[in-house]
Amino acid sequence: MEFQGITGRFKEANAEALVVVFFKGEKATSGVLKEMDALARGALSSVVKSENFKGEKGQTALLRFAPKGKVKARSIMLLGVGDKADYTMSEVAAASGCATRYLRTRNHKKFAFLPRHEGDPTAVAQAAAQGFVTSQFELDKYKTKDKKEKLVSRLVVCIDGASPSDLKKGLERGRIVGEAMNFTRDLANEPPNILTPTEMANRAQAMANETGLKYEVLDEAKMEKLGMGSLLSVSKGSEQPAKLIILRYSPEKNTAEKGDLLALVGKGITFDTGGISLKPGEGMDAMKYDMSGGATVLGTMRAIALLKPTIPVLGIVAAVENMPDGKATRPSDVVTASNGKTIEILNTDAEGRLILADAVAYAEKQGANRIVDMATLTGAVIIALGDQNTGIMGNDQALVDEIIACGKENGEGFWQLPLSKEYSKQIKSDIADIKNIGPRGKAGTIMGAVFIQEFIDKAKWAHLDIAGTAWSDSAKPHQAKGPTGVAVRTLLSLVEKYQ
Ligand code: BES
Ligand code: ZN
Ligand code: ZN
Repeated sequence: MEFQGITGRFKEANAEALVVVFFKGEKATSGVLKEMDALARGALSSVVKSENFKGEKGQTALLRFAPKGKVKARSIMLLGVGDKADYTMSEVAAASGCATRYLRTRNHKKFAFLPRHEGDPTAVAQAAAQGFVTSQFELDKYKTKDKKEKLVSRLVVCIDGASPSDLKKGLERGRIVGEAMNFTRDLANEPPNILTPTEMANRAQAMANETGLKYEVLDEAKMEKLGMGSLLSVSKGSEQPAKLIILRYSPEKNTAEKGDLLALVGKGITFDTGGISLKPGEGMDAMKYDMSGGATVLGTMRAIALLKPTIPVLGIVAAVENMPDGKATRPSDVVTASNGKTIEILNTDAEGRLILADAVAYAEKQGANRIVDMATLTGAVIIALGDQNTGIMGNDQALVDEIIACGKENGEGFWQLPLSKEYSKQIKSDIADIKNIGPRGKAGTIMGAVFIQEFIDKAKWAHLDIAGTAWSDSAKPHQAKGPTGVAVRTLLSLVEKYQ
Protein backbone atom coordinates (compact mmCIF):
# COMPACT_ATOMS: atom_id res chain seq x y z
CA MET A 1 0.00 0.00 0.00
CA GLU A 2 1.17 3.46 -0.86
CA PHE A 3 0.34 6.69 0.90
CA GLN A 4 0.78 10.29 -0.08
CA GLY A 5 -0.23 13.49 1.59
CA ILE A 6 -0.86 16.69 -0.33
CA THR A 7 -2.15 20.09 0.60
CA GLY A 8 -4.85 21.83 -1.36
CA ARG A 9 -3.85 20.79 -4.85
CA PHE A 10 -6.24 17.89 -5.12
CA LYS A 11 -6.59 18.39 -8.86
CA GLU A 12 -3.04 17.18 -9.37
CA ALA A 13 -3.48 14.04 -7.27
CA ASN A 14 -2.24 10.85 -8.85
CA ALA A 15 -5.55 9.05 -8.38
CA GLU A 16 -8.47 7.63 -10.32
CA ALA A 17 -11.12 9.14 -8.10
CA LEU A 18 -11.50 12.14 -5.84
CA VAL A 19 -13.46 11.28 -2.74
CA VAL A 20 -14.99 14.22 -1.00
CA VAL A 21 -16.84 14.23 2.28
CA PHE A 22 -20.30 15.81 2.18
CA PHE A 23 -21.97 17.05 5.34
CA LYS A 24 -25.64 16.70 5.96
CA GLY A 25 -27.60 19.64 4.66
CA GLU A 26 -24.74 21.47 2.96
CA LYS A 27 -24.97 22.93 -0.52
CA ALA A 28 -23.11 21.66 -3.55
CA THR A 29 -21.69 25.16 -3.81
CA SER A 30 -20.03 25.25 -0.40
CA GLY A 31 -16.26 25.30 0.02
CA VAL A 32 -14.21 22.89 -2.00
CA LEU A 33 -17.36 21.32 -3.45
CA LYS A 34 -17.76 24.33 -5.67
CA GLU A 35 -14.28 23.87 -7.10
CA MET A 36 -15.00 20.22 -7.74
CA ASP A 37 -18.28 20.99 -9.36
CA ALA A 38 -16.48 23.27 -11.78
CA LEU A 39 -13.91 20.56 -12.44
CA ALA A 40 -16.70 18.15 -13.27
CA ARG A 41 -18.49 20.75 -15.41
CA GLY A 42 -21.48 20.95 -13.10
CA ALA A 43 -21.90 17.18 -12.74
CA LEU A 44 -21.58 17.39 -8.97
CA SER A 45 -24.36 19.87 -8.40
CA SER A 46 -26.58 18.06 -10.85
CA VAL A 47 -26.08 14.71 -9.07
CA VAL A 48 -26.83 16.34 -5.74
CA LYS A 49 -30.07 17.53 -7.23
CA SER A 50 -31.05 14.50 -9.29
CA GLU A 51 -30.15 11.91 -6.63
CA ASN A 52 -31.50 14.05 -3.85
CA PHE A 53 -28.08 13.77 -2.19
CA LYS A 54 -28.42 15.06 1.34
CA GLY A 55 -25.16 13.95 2.92
CA GLU A 56 -26.80 11.41 5.20
CA LYS A 57 -24.21 9.22 6.85
CA GLY A 58 -23.22 6.42 4.47
CA GLN A 59 -24.88 7.96 1.42
CA THR A 60 -22.70 7.69 -1.67
CA ALA A 61 -22.70 8.91 -5.26
CA LEU A 62 -20.12 8.27 -7.93
CA LEU A 63 -19.96 10.59 -10.85
CA ARG A 64 -17.75 10.13 -13.85
CA PHE A 65 -16.46 13.11 -15.75
CA ALA A 66 -14.16 13.90 -18.62
CA PRO A 67 -11.04 15.41 -17.05
CA LYS A 68 -9.82 18.86 -17.95
CA GLY A 69 -6.14 19.80 -18.28
CA LYS A 70 -3.72 18.03 -15.97
CA VAL A 71 -6.36 16.33 -13.85
CA LYS A 72 -5.86 12.56 -13.63
CA ALA A 73 -9.03 11.61 -11.78
CA ARG A 74 -11.96 10.42 -13.82
CA SER A 75 -14.55 10.23 -11.13
CA ILE A 76 -15.72 12.02 -8.04
CA MET A 77 -17.22 10.18 -5.15
CA LEU A 78 -19.50 12.05 -2.81
CA LEU A 79 -19.51 10.51 0.63
CA GLY A 80 -22.17 11.52 3.09
CA VAL A 81 -20.95 11.64 6.70
CA GLY A 82 -24.02 13.07 8.42
CA ASP A 83 -23.90 16.05 10.76
CA LYS A 84 -20.67 18.02 10.85
CA ALA A 85 -20.90 18.20 14.65
CA ASP A 86 -20.66 14.39 14.88
CA TYR A 87 -17.72 14.13 12.50
CA THR A 88 -15.03 12.88 14.87
CA MET A 89 -11.57 11.46 14.09
CA SER A 90 -12.94 7.93 14.19
CA GLU A 91 -15.58 9.04 11.68
CA VAL A 92 -12.75 10.19 9.41
CA ALA A 93 -11.32 6.66 9.63
CA ALA A 94 -14.74 5.14 8.92
CA ALA A 95 -15.29 7.49 5.97
CA SER A 96 -11.92 6.60 4.49
CA GLY A 97 -12.70 2.91 4.95
CA CYS A 98 -16.15 3.31 3.50
CA ALA A 99 -14.74 4.98 0.38
CA THR A 100 -12.10 2.27 0.02
CA ARG A 101 -14.60 -0.58 0.15
CA TYR A 102 -16.96 1.23 -2.20
CA LEU A 103 -14.32 2.01 -4.79
CA ARG A 104 -12.69 -1.39 -4.79
CA THR A 105 -15.92 -2.93 -6.01
CA ARG A 106 -15.83 -0.37 -8.80
CA ASN A 107 -12.33 -1.30 -9.83
CA HIS A 108 -10.47 1.71 -8.56
CA LYS A 109 -6.92 1.11 -7.42
CA LYS A 110 -6.08 4.57 -6.16
CA PHE A 111 -8.04 7.48 -4.88
CA ALA A 112 -7.56 10.88 -3.34
CA PHE A 113 -9.47 11.58 -0.14
CA LEU A 114 -10.54 15.01 1.07
CA PRO A 115 -11.53 14.39 4.70
CA ARG A 116 -12.57 18.02 5.31
CA HIS A 117 -11.94 17.75 9.03
CA GLU A 118 -10.58 20.86 10.65
CA GLY A 119 -8.65 19.12 13.44
CA ASP A 120 -4.93 18.47 13.76
CA PRO A 121 -3.79 17.46 10.24
CA THR A 122 -1.49 14.73 11.59
CA ALA A 123 -4.39 13.12 13.42
CA VAL A 124 -6.69 13.49 10.40
CA ALA A 125 -4.12 11.89 8.09
CA GLN A 126 -3.58 9.14 10.65
CA ALA A 127 -7.29 8.37 10.86
CA ALA A 128 -7.61 8.34 7.06
CA ALA A 129 -4.70 5.92 6.64
CA GLN A 130 -5.88 3.66 9.45
CA GLY A 131 -9.38 3.44 7.99
CA PHE A 132 -7.92 2.69 4.56
CA VAL A 133 -5.84 -0.20 5.95
CA THR A 134 -8.46 -1.75 8.23
CA SER A 135 -11.21 -1.55 5.61
CA GLN A 136 -9.34 -3.94 3.39
CA PHE A 137 -9.08 -6.79 5.88
CA GLU A 138 -11.11 -9.78 4.73
CA LEU A 139 -12.01 -13.15 6.17
CA ASP A 140 -11.12 -15.06 3.01
CA LYS A 141 -7.56 -16.06 3.88
CA TYR A 142 -8.32 -19.76 3.42
CA LYS A 143 -10.36 -19.47 0.24
CA THR A 144 -8.62 -20.82 -2.84
CA LYS A 145 -10.97 -18.96 -5.16
CA ASP A 146 -13.62 -16.23 -5.01
CA LYS A 147 -11.37 -14.04 -2.93
CA LYS A 148 -12.54 -10.46 -2.48
CA GLU A 149 -11.60 -7.91 -5.13
CA LYS A 150 -8.00 -6.80 -5.46
CA LEU A 151 -6.68 -4.27 -3.04
CA VAL A 152 -7.01 -0.57 -3.47
CA SER A 153 -3.31 0.16 -3.37
CA ARG A 154 -2.90 3.90 -3.11
CA LEU A 155 -4.36 6.58 -0.90
CA VAL A 156 -3.69 10.27 -1.40
CA VAL A 157 -4.90 12.38 1.50
CA CYS A 158 -5.54 16.05 0.77
CA ILE A 159 -5.62 18.45 3.70
CA ASP A 160 -5.55 22.18 3.19
CA GLY A 161 -2.75 24.01 4.93
CA ALA A 162 -1.08 20.93 6.41
CA SER A 163 2.70 20.67 6.44
CA PRO A 164 4.11 17.83 4.33
CA SER A 165 5.99 16.43 7.31
CA ASP A 166 2.85 16.38 9.50
CA LEU A 167 0.98 14.60 6.75
CA LYS A 168 3.75 12.08 6.29
CA LYS A 169 3.95 11.41 10.00
CA GLY A 170 0.19 10.98 10.30
CA LEU A 171 -0.03 8.63 7.35
CA GLU A 172 2.80 6.48 8.65
CA ARG A 173 1.24 6.28 12.10
CA GLY A 174 -2.14 5.43 10.60
CA ARG A 175 -0.60 2.65 8.56
CA ILE A 176 1.08 1.21 11.66
CA VAL A 177 -2.10 1.38 13.75
CA GLY A 178 -4.22 -0.11 10.94
CA GLU A 179 -1.77 -2.92 10.36
CA ALA A 180 -1.64 -3.64 14.09
CA MET A 181 -5.45 -3.92 14.16
CA ASN A 182 -5.34 -6.24 11.16
CA PHE A 183 -2.62 -8.31 12.84
CA THR A 184 -4.95 -8.75 15.82
CA ARG A 185 -7.90 -9.54 13.54
CA ASP A 186 -5.97 -12.08 11.54
CA LEU A 187 -5.04 -13.96 14.71
CA ALA A 188 -8.62 -13.87 15.99
CA ASN A 189 -9.84 -15.26 12.70
CA GLU A 190 -7.39 -18.18 12.60
CA PRO A 191 -8.93 -21.61 12.99
CA PRO A 192 -7.95 -23.28 16.25
CA ASN A 193 -6.28 -26.27 14.58
CA ILE A 194 -3.83 -23.81 13.08
CA LEU A 195 -3.53 -21.25 15.86
CA THR A 196 -2.64 -23.49 18.79
CA PRO A 197 -0.96 -21.97 21.84
CA THR A 198 2.41 -23.00 20.37
CA GLU A 199 1.59 -21.34 17.06
CA MET A 200 0.41 -18.20 18.85
CA ALA A 201 3.78 -18.08 20.60
CA ASN A 202 5.55 -18.59 17.27
CA ARG A 203 3.62 -15.72 15.69
CA ALA A 204 4.47 -13.52 18.65
CA GLN A 205 8.13 -14.46 18.33
CA ALA A 206 8.22 -13.74 14.59
CA MET A 207 6.54 -10.39 15.17
CA ALA A 208 8.96 -9.57 18.00
CA ASN A 209 11.93 -10.39 15.78
CA GLU A 210 10.59 -8.15 13.04
CA THR A 211 9.86 -5.21 15.29
CA GLY A 212 12.64 -5.40 17.88
CA LEU A 213 10.60 -6.43 20.92
CA LYS A 214 12.16 -8.78 23.46
CA TYR A 215 10.44 -12.14 23.40
CA GLU A 216 10.33 -14.83 26.03
CA VAL A 217 8.05 -17.81 26.52
CA LEU A 218 7.33 -19.91 29.58
CA ASP A 219 6.53 -23.55 28.86
CA GLU A 220 4.48 -25.75 31.17
CA ALA A 221 7.50 -26.99 33.12
CA LYS A 222 8.54 -23.39 33.88
CA MET A 223 5.00 -22.46 34.84
CA GLU A 224 4.83 -25.51 37.09
CA LYS A 225 7.97 -24.29 38.85
CA LEU A 226 6.41 -20.88 39.34
CA GLY A 227 3.36 -22.53 40.88
CA MET A 228 0.89 -21.45 38.20
CA GLY A 229 -1.60 -24.14 39.12
CA SER A 230 -4.56 -22.02 38.09
CA LEU A 231 -3.42 -21.47 34.50
CA LEU A 232 -2.18 -25.05 34.15
CA SER A 233 -5.50 -26.48 35.36
CA VAL A 234 -7.05 -25.20 32.13
CA SER A 235 -4.58 -26.84 29.74
CA LYS A 236 -4.67 -30.22 31.49
CA GLY A 237 -7.35 -31.54 29.16
CA SER A 238 -5.53 -30.44 26.03
CA GLU A 239 -2.90 -32.16 23.90
CA GLN A 240 -1.59 -28.68 23.21
CA PRO A 241 0.83 -27.39 25.81
CA ALA A 242 0.10 -23.95 27.29
CA LYS A 243 2.46 -21.05 26.66
CA LEU A 244 2.91 -17.86 28.60
CA ILE A 245 4.11 -15.34 26.03
CA ILE A 246 6.09 -12.36 27.29
CA LEU A 247 6.98 -9.34 25.17
CA ARG A 248 9.01 -6.42 26.40
CA TYR A 249 9.24 -2.97 24.89
CA SER A 250 11.99 -0.73 26.28
CA PRO A 251 12.21 2.80 24.88
CA GLU A 252 15.54 4.30 23.86
CA LYS A 253 14.59 7.48 25.64
CA ASN A 254 12.65 6.66 28.79
CA THR A 255 10.39 9.38 30.20
CA ALA A 256 8.56 7.14 32.66
CA GLU A 257 8.75 7.91 36.37
CA LYS A 258 11.19 5.58 38.05
CA GLY A 259 9.51 2.26 38.72
CA ASP A 260 6.54 2.85 36.43
CA LEU A 261 5.71 -0.12 34.22
CA LEU A 262 2.49 -0.65 32.28
CA ALA A 263 1.52 -4.24 31.51
CA LEU A 264 -1.03 -5.41 28.96
CA VAL A 265 -2.27 -8.91 29.72
CA GLY A 266 -4.49 -10.94 27.39
CA LYS A 267 -6.66 -14.04 27.52
CA GLY A 268 -5.42 -16.33 24.78
CA ILE A 269 -7.77 -19.31 24.87
CA THR A 270 -7.15 -20.64 21.36
CA PHE A 271 -10.33 -22.68 21.64
CA ASP A 272 -12.87 -22.86 24.43
CA THR A 273 -14.95 -26.03 24.47
CA GLY A 274 -15.85 -25.32 28.08
CA GLY A 275 -13.79 -28.34 29.19
CA ILE A 276 -15.68 -30.91 31.28
CA SER A 277 -18.39 -28.24 31.79
CA LEU A 278 -18.83 -28.67 28.04
CA LYS A 279 -20.49 -25.95 26.00
CA PRO A 280 -23.45 -26.85 23.79
CA GLY A 281 -22.33 -27.81 20.28
CA GLU A 282 -24.34 -25.13 18.57
CA GLY A 283 -22.29 -22.00 18.20
CA MET A 284 -19.22 -23.52 19.78
CA ASP A 285 -17.25 -22.69 16.62
CA ALA A 286 -17.35 -19.02 17.67
CA MET A 287 -14.99 -19.91 20.50
CA LYS A 288 -11.99 -19.76 18.18
CA TYR A 289 -12.04 -16.04 18.93
CA ASP A 290 -11.56 -16.68 22.66
CA MET A 291 -7.92 -15.64 22.20
CA SER A 292 -8.94 -12.14 21.10
CA GLY A 293 -7.63 -10.54 24.31
CA GLY A 294 -4.23 -12.10 23.67
CA ALA A 295 -4.38 -11.07 20.02
CA THR A 296 -5.14 -7.51 21.13
CA VAL A 297 -2.04 -7.51 23.31
CA LEU A 298 0.10 -8.77 20.41
CA GLY A 299 -1.30 -6.24 17.93
CA THR A 300 -0.90 -3.38 20.39
CA MET A 301 2.67 -4.42 21.24
CA ARG A 302 3.47 -4.57 17.53
CA ALA A 303 2.31 -0.99 17.06
CA ILE A 304 4.14 0.11 20.21
CA ALA A 305 7.39 -1.36 18.87
CA LEU A 306 6.98 0.63 15.65
CA LEU A 307 5.61 3.89 17.09
CA LYS A 308 8.29 3.93 19.80
CA PRO A 309 6.62 5.70 22.71
CA THR A 310 8.90 6.80 25.55
CA ILE A 311 7.63 4.47 28.28
CA PRO A 312 8.36 0.76 28.76
CA VAL A 313 5.49 -1.67 28.17
CA LEU A 314 5.21 -5.32 29.12
CA GLY A 315 2.90 -7.55 27.06
CA ILE A 316 1.74 -10.91 28.39
CA VAL A 317 -0.45 -13.48 26.69
CA ALA A 318 -1.68 -16.63 28.39
CA ALA A 319 -2.13 -18.99 25.44
CA VAL A 320 -4.06 -22.10 26.40
CA GLU A 321 -6.59 -24.51 24.89
CA ASN A 322 -9.60 -25.56 26.99
CA MET A 323 -10.57 -29.15 26.16
CA PRO A 324 -12.42 -32.04 27.86
CA ASP A 325 -10.37 -35.19 28.36
CA GLY A 326 -9.59 -37.95 30.85
CA LYS A 327 -6.89 -35.71 32.25
CA ALA A 328 -8.99 -32.56 32.25
CA THR A 329 -9.83 -30.59 35.36
CA ARG A 330 -13.17 -31.60 36.96
CA PRO A 331 -15.77 -29.27 38.43
CA SER A 332 -14.96 -29.42 42.18
CA ASP A 333 -11.18 -29.74 41.74
CA VAL A 334 -9.11 -27.43 43.92
CA VAL A 335 -5.92 -25.85 42.59
CA THR A 336 -3.34 -23.40 43.93
CA ALA A 337 -2.37 -20.29 41.98
CA SER A 338 1.09 -18.70 41.89
CA ASN A 339 0.18 -16.15 44.57
CA GLY A 340 -0.69 -19.02 46.93
CA LYS A 341 -4.47 -18.64 46.79
CA THR A 342 -6.50 -21.81 46.51
CA ILE A 343 -9.33 -22.02 43.99
CA GLU A 344 -12.28 -24.35 43.90
CA ILE A 345 -13.07 -24.81 40.22
CA LEU A 346 -16.82 -25.25 40.02
CA ASN A 347 -17.17 -24.63 36.31
CA THR A 348 -14.37 -25.44 33.88
CA ASP A 349 -15.96 -23.10 31.34
CA ALA A 350 -15.05 -20.13 33.51
CA GLU A 351 -11.45 -20.71 32.39
CA GLY A 352 -10.43 -17.24 31.21
CA ARG A 353 -10.20 -15.92 34.76
CA LEU A 354 -8.16 -18.98 35.75
CA ILE A 355 -5.44 -18.28 33.21
CA LEU A 356 -5.52 -14.52 33.79
CA ALA A 357 -5.08 -15.08 37.53
CA ASP A 358 -1.54 -16.38 37.10
CA ALA A 359 -0.83 -14.05 34.18
CA VAL A 360 -1.65 -10.81 36.04
CA ALA A 361 0.19 -12.04 39.13
CA TYR A 362 3.21 -12.70 36.92
CA ALA A 363 2.94 -9.21 35.39
CA GLU A 364 3.03 -7.67 38.85
CA LYS A 365 6.01 -9.83 39.85
CA GLN A 366 7.78 -8.49 36.78
CA GLY A 367 7.38 -5.02 38.21
CA ALA A 368 4.17 -3.77 36.59
CA ASN A 369 2.43 -1.12 38.68
CA ARG A 370 -0.32 -0.59 36.12
CA ILE A 371 -2.02 -3.60 34.60
CA VAL A 372 -4.71 -3.66 31.95
CA ASP A 373 -6.08 -7.10 31.17
CA MET A 374 -8.36 -7.86 28.25
CA ALA A 375 -10.46 -10.91 27.63
CA THR A 376 -13.50 -12.38 25.95
CA LEU A 377 -14.42 -13.32 29.47
CA THR A 378 -18.17 -13.58 29.82
CA GLY A 379 -21.32 -14.14 27.81
CA ALA A 380 -22.97 -11.89 30.41
CA VAL A 381 -21.24 -8.78 29.07
CA ILE A 382 -22.91 -9.37 25.70
CA ILE A 383 -26.29 -9.48 27.41
CA ALA A 384 -25.49 -6.33 29.38
CA LEU A 385 -23.81 -4.17 26.72
CA GLY A 386 -24.21 -5.85 23.33
CA ASP A 387 -21.57 -5.15 20.72
CA GLN A 388 -21.28 -1.39 21.21
CA ASN A 389 -19.44 -1.15 24.50
CA THR A 390 -16.62 -3.05 26.12
CA GLY A 391 -17.21 -3.72 29.80
CA ILE A 392 -14.58 -2.07 31.98
CA MET A 393 -13.93 -2.57 35.67
CA GLY A 394 -10.96 -1.82 37.88
CA ASN A 395 -9.48 -0.96 41.26
CA ASP A 396 -8.30 2.52 40.27
CA GLN A 397 -10.86 5.04 39.05
CA ALA A 398 -8.25 7.28 37.41
CA LEU A 399 -7.00 4.42 35.25
CA VAL A 400 -10.54 3.39 34.32
CA ASP A 401 -11.41 7.01 33.47
CA GLU A 402 -8.30 7.35 31.33
CA ILE A 403 -9.18 4.25 29.33
CA ILE A 404 -12.77 5.42 28.85
CA ALA A 405 -11.47 8.83 27.67
CA CYS A 406 -8.97 7.22 25.26
CA GLY A 407 -11.81 5.07 23.97
CA LYS A 408 -13.90 8.17 23.26
CA GLU A 409 -11.06 9.71 21.26
CA ASN A 410 -11.01 6.59 19.13
CA GLY A 411 -14.71 5.96 18.74
CA GLU A 412 -14.53 2.90 20.99
CA GLY A 413 -17.11 2.64 23.75
CA PHE A 414 -16.20 1.44 27.25
CA TRP A 415 -18.84 1.18 29.93
CA GLN A 416 -17.92 0.78 33.55
CA LEU A 417 -19.50 -1.80 35.82
CA PRO A 418 -19.04 -1.59 39.59
CA LEU A 419 -16.77 -3.67 41.81
CA SER A 420 -17.12 -3.88 45.58
CA LYS A 421 -16.40 -6.06 48.61
CA GLU A 422 -20.01 -7.25 48.48
CA TYR A 423 -19.44 -8.66 45.01
CA SER A 424 -16.09 -10.16 46.04
CA LYS A 425 -17.81 -12.03 48.89
CA GLN A 426 -19.86 -13.90 46.33
CA ILE A 427 -16.85 -15.87 45.13
CA LYS A 428 -15.85 -17.12 48.58
CA SER A 429 -15.62 -20.90 48.53
CA ASP A 430 -16.80 -23.26 51.27
CA ILE A 431 -13.66 -25.33 51.03
CA ALA A 432 -10.97 -23.12 49.42
CA ASP A 433 -10.09 -19.42 49.37
CA ILE A 434 -12.23 -18.63 46.37
CA LYS A 435 -14.32 -20.33 43.70
CA ASN A 436 -14.26 -19.52 40.02
CA ILE A 437 -17.95 -18.69 39.62
CA GLY A 438 -20.51 -16.59 41.47
CA PRO A 439 -24.21 -17.24 41.97
CA ARG A 440 -25.97 -18.38 38.82
CA GLY A 441 -27.35 -15.63 36.62
CA LYS A 442 -26.08 -12.79 38.79
CA ALA A 443 -23.60 -10.15 37.64
CA GLY A 444 -21.59 -12.65 35.61
CA THR A 445 -19.24 -10.03 34.17
CA ILE A 446 -18.48 -8.55 37.59
CA MET A 447 -17.87 -12.04 39.01
CA GLY A 448 -15.16 -12.54 36.39
CA ALA A 449 -13.55 -9.23 37.34
CA VAL A 450 -13.61 -9.72 41.11
CA PHE A 451 -11.98 -13.11 40.58
CA ILE A 452 -9.08 -11.58 38.63
CA GLN A 453 -8.82 -8.84 41.25
CA GLU A 454 -7.85 -11.49 43.82
CA PHE A 455 -4.55 -11.85 41.97
CA ILE A 456 -3.64 -8.18 41.89
CA ASP A 457 -1.57 -7.13 44.87
CA LYS A 458 -0.68 -3.42 44.79
CA ALA A 459 -0.92 -2.55 41.10
CA LYS A 460 -3.47 -0.23 39.59
CA TRP A 461 -5.59 -2.49 37.48
CA ALA A 462 -8.34 -2.37 34.86
CA HIS A 463 -10.11 -5.29 33.24
CA LEU A 464 -11.69 -5.09 29.78
CA ASP A 465 -14.35 -7.64 28.90
CA ILE A 466 -14.34 -7.60 25.09
CA ALA A 467 -16.60 -10.64 24.54
CA GLY A 468 -19.23 -8.46 22.86
CA THR A 469 -16.97 -6.09 20.96
CA ALA A 470 -14.15 -8.25 19.60
CA TRP A 471 -16.32 -9.82 16.91
CA SER A 472 -18.89 -8.25 14.62
CA ASP A 473 -21.63 -10.49 13.25
CA SER A 474 -22.29 -8.26 10.28
CA ALA A 475 -20.24 -6.31 7.76
CA LYS A 476 -20.20 -2.52 8.02
CA PRO A 477 -19.69 -0.14 5.09
CA HIS A 478 -16.15 0.46 6.35
CA GLN A 479 -15.34 -2.95 7.78
CA ALA A 480 -15.73 -6.65 7.02
CA LYS A 481 -17.65 -8.79 9.47
CA GLY A 482 -15.68 -10.82 11.97
CA PRO A 483 -12.85 -9.75 14.26
CA THR A 484 -12.81 -6.02 14.97
CA GLY A 485 -9.42 -5.35 16.55
CA VAL A 486 -11.25 -3.50 19.33
CA ALA A 487 -9.14 -1.75 22.00
CA VAL A 488 -5.90 -1.62 20.01
CA ARG A 489 -6.37 2.08 19.21
CA THR A 490 -7.57 2.90 22.71
CA LEU A 491 -4.60 1.19 24.35
CA LEU A 492 -2.18 2.95 22.02
CA SER A 493 -3.70 6.28 23.04
CA LEU A 494 -3.35 5.24 26.69
CA VAL A 495 0.34 4.45 26.22
CA GLU A 496 0.84 7.83 24.57
CA LYS A 497 -0.94 9.57 27.41
CA TYR A 498 1.48 8.07 29.91
CA GLN A 499 4.61 8.99 27.99
N1 BES B 1 -15.23 -17.58 26.47
C1 BES B 1 -16.36 -17.60 27.30
C2 BES B 1 -17.12 -16.28 27.28
C3 BES B 1 -18.01 -16.08 26.09
C4 BES B 1 -19.24 -16.72 26.04
C5 BES B 1 -17.65 -15.23 25.10
C6 BES B 1 -20.06 -16.53 24.96
C7 BES B 1 -18.49 -15.04 24.02
C8 BES B 1 -19.69 -15.69 23.94
C9 BES B 1 -15.96 -17.86 28.74
O1 BES B 1 -14.87 -18.66 28.92
C10 BES B 1 -17.13 -18.55 29.38
O2 BES B 1 -17.48 -19.60 28.93
N2 BES B 1 -17.70 -17.92 30.38
C11 BES B 1 -18.84 -18.44 31.04
C12 BES B 1 -18.69 -18.18 32.50
C13 BES B 1 -19.69 -18.89 33.36
C14 BES B 1 -19.44 -20.38 33.31
C15 BES B 1 -19.56 -18.39 34.76
C16 BES B 1 -20.07 -17.74 30.49
O3 BES B 1 -20.01 -16.55 30.21
O4 BES B 1 -21.08 -18.41 30.29
ZN1 ZN C 1 -15.33 -20.74 28.91
ZN1 ZN D 1 -13.46 -18.59 27.35
